[in-house]
Amino acid sequence: MLSHLTDQPADKILELMKLYRDDPRPQKIDLGVGVYKDADGKTPIFRAIKAAEKKLWEQEETKSYVGLIGDPAYRDALAGLILGDAVPSDKIAGAATPGGTGAVRQCFELARMANPDVRVWVSDPTWPNHLSILKFMGLPTQSYRYFDSETRAVDFDGMMADLAEAQPGDLVLLHGCCHNPTGANLNMSQWQAVVDLLLKTGATPMIDIAYQGFGDGLDADAAGTRLVASSVPELLIAASCSKNFGIYRERAGLALAISQEAARRDTHEGALAFLNRQNFSFPPDHGTRLVTLVLTDPDLRADWASELEDIRLGMLKLREQLAAELQAASGSDRFGFVAEHRGMFSRLGTTPEMVERLREDHAIYMVGDSRMNIAGLNAHTVPVLAKAIVDTGI
Ligand code: LMR
Repeated sequence: MLSHLTDQPADKILELMKLYRDDPRPQKIDLGVGVYKDADGKTPIFRAIKAAEKKLWEQEETKSYVGLIGDPAYRDALAGLILGDAVPSDKIAGAATPGGTGAVRQCFELARMANPDVRVWVSDPTWPNHLSILKFMGLPTQSYRYFDSETRAVDFDGMMADLAEAQPGDLVLLHGCCHNPTGANLNMSQWQAVVDLLLKTGATPMIDIAYQGFGDGLDADAAGTRLVASSVPELLIAASCSKNFGIYRERAGLALAISQEAARRDTHEGALAFLNRQNFSFPPDHGTRLVTLVLTDPDLRADWASELEDIRLGMLKLREQLAAELQAASGSDRFGFVAEHRGMFSRLGTTPEMVERLREDHAIYMVGDSRMNIAGLNAHTVPVLAKAIVDTGI
């Protein structure tokens, strides 16, 4: 039986991690996978997470099963972080999942369970794993224009024109903030226009929010999601704690199903619990418990938010420095978008060949679609990257 298996396509982002690791050149710069790194190239554990781990070690008395949706306190705490008071809690169903990817998968599963013919609208471009999961599940996709490769901003007219074709029963996948891979994001009046369009077409939105706190701040990054959540009849949310709590390997995610009809809540949560049971039974607990401890303890929460804010401001500074260095090196303003983009990523907007030359000639690693992880830079490597970009003729 197993002899029928064929080699699967390698995940481009994860493959790049390996290529980087194997590169012996000491000056190499990793702008690949979406993992935050400080100026020394380390991915630190947040102070508040360390403190929560200590607390947990002292307090936890059992490792027995929790429940299929995980600890409800985690659902409430993380839903609160994302949604603020935009939606009353009796309208929010949720289940913990193995990481943000698990949440994405479970939201797609839920949509398919509700509508076996669901068609999923995805931004062009989107996180490649969205497409890979959808393909694997056999769900039809439809892309909508999103990125203007000239201005490197959102092609909002194109997006609206394409999404006007969405139908009731379709799922429209949006990025809550810090769009991956482009770094180009909707402003609030654009979010409002998207909401109006969703209401007009009757399509159901799903928001993937994996970088809250990395763009314009914890509340600002959730503002679009909150607007959608308070305006449309139904919304799915896939959330990740990997980046903003720095607990990548703990796999803490959350799938939420929001319905304005509070009477539907228990059915939706039951469906999420059922899907967890079919796929892995109980979601991982350790990371979710750390998040809950941090979010429900005022001191830990304040410390976490302040460390996250330092990280955010550090990345903004790198963006500004890079835009200025590129301006100086190229003598043009064509790279100004780097300072406008938000989140971990910016799409440079060049060809895979140029990206390969950056890797071969300069040991600079970015994803083939020219997505760079800004957090992979520091004050010393920014000028190196700027020079390499201009020398390569980008
Ligand atoms: C990324 O986009 O680099 C991250 O979300 C990591 C991943 O799993 O791809």
